[in-house]
Amino acid sequence: MNRTFEYINAGMENGIGFVELNRPKVLNAINRQMVSEILSAFEQFDRDSEVKVILLSGKGRAFAAGADIDEMANDSAIDFELLNQFTDWDRIAVVKKPIIGAVQGFALGGGFEMALCCDMLFASDDAEFGFPEVNLAVMPGAGGTQRLTKLIGKTRAMEWLMTGDRMSAKEAQRLGIINRVVARELLMEETKKFAARLAKQPPLSLRLIKESVHKAVDYSLYEGMQYERKNFSLLFASEDQKEGMNAFIEKRKPDYKGK
Ligand code: CAA
Repeated sequence: MNRTFEYINAGMENGIGFVELNRPKVLNAINRQMVSEILSAFEQFDRDSEVKVILLSGKGRAFAAGADIDEMANDSAIDFELLNQFTDWDRIAVVKKPIIGAVQGFALGGGFEMALCCDMLFASDDAEFGFPEVNLAVMPGAGGTQRLTKLIGKTRAMEWLMTGDRMSAKEAQRLGIINRVVARELLMEETKKFAARLAKQPPLSLRLIKESVHKAVDYSLYEGMQYERKNFSLLFASEDQKEGMNAFIEKRKPDYKGK
């Protein structure tokens, strides 16, 4: 990583690209520059062949308590239109490498939306998720109504979005929003362990699995199946496919190169 950032920390270790939201005094409230820094770090990691998996976390007692209310309080509709600020969020969704989120404390509003940009989520037992925008007389603007509905269905999403209530980590897990709930003191350790496990998987498989799963959300079953099939075939053009299958036949451990 050859850039220093103001609102995030970023670094790489053992194939894992780390991004930590770093505005703990305001519970990592997400301002515009922070989003562009997150995107910039993600895109650098996406291009760096040493990085296999990205881990997103927050510093301090919260993951992120939402978009920065102070920054947007006096904006007009035209400011939003001209800033087109949510484009960066769209680009996060097309990062090719797996993104794993580690959520502690609050993941609210834009913070919940940032968590939903991750492919998998680990949360501490004190994590709370929710969309409190309705209490500010607005609504989610960075994908909350869309991503939550696709994950948990219309009627449940309506309730969480319209009440602004906060859900516990256990409830979020029951609804299929998060993968694991762990004790707070173990959150980073457990998430890193999982990321390290994925970092050893064949990178091209992860890449095309991610793409295919994303298409499953948007495509019809038929279109999705066609897409999956093309990706399945494509993997047979890789050296790793030969290595994986030969290693199985020769009863040895595969050595993947990501090619
Ligand atoms: N924006 C800006 N500052 C925020 C913030 C936010 N979203 N959330 C918290 N902060 C700041 C507080 O103003 C406070 O700053 P000061 O110490 O300078 O006063 C600091 O973080 C600590 O917060 P609290 O003292 O309020 O902490 P608490 O433990 O009492 O409460 C909380 C925690 C319930 C999360 C409360 O801070 C809160 O309700 N925050 C706002 C949550 C929210 O409404 N999020 C949605 C934002 S809109 C959005 O996200 C739109 C979108 O879709 C893109």
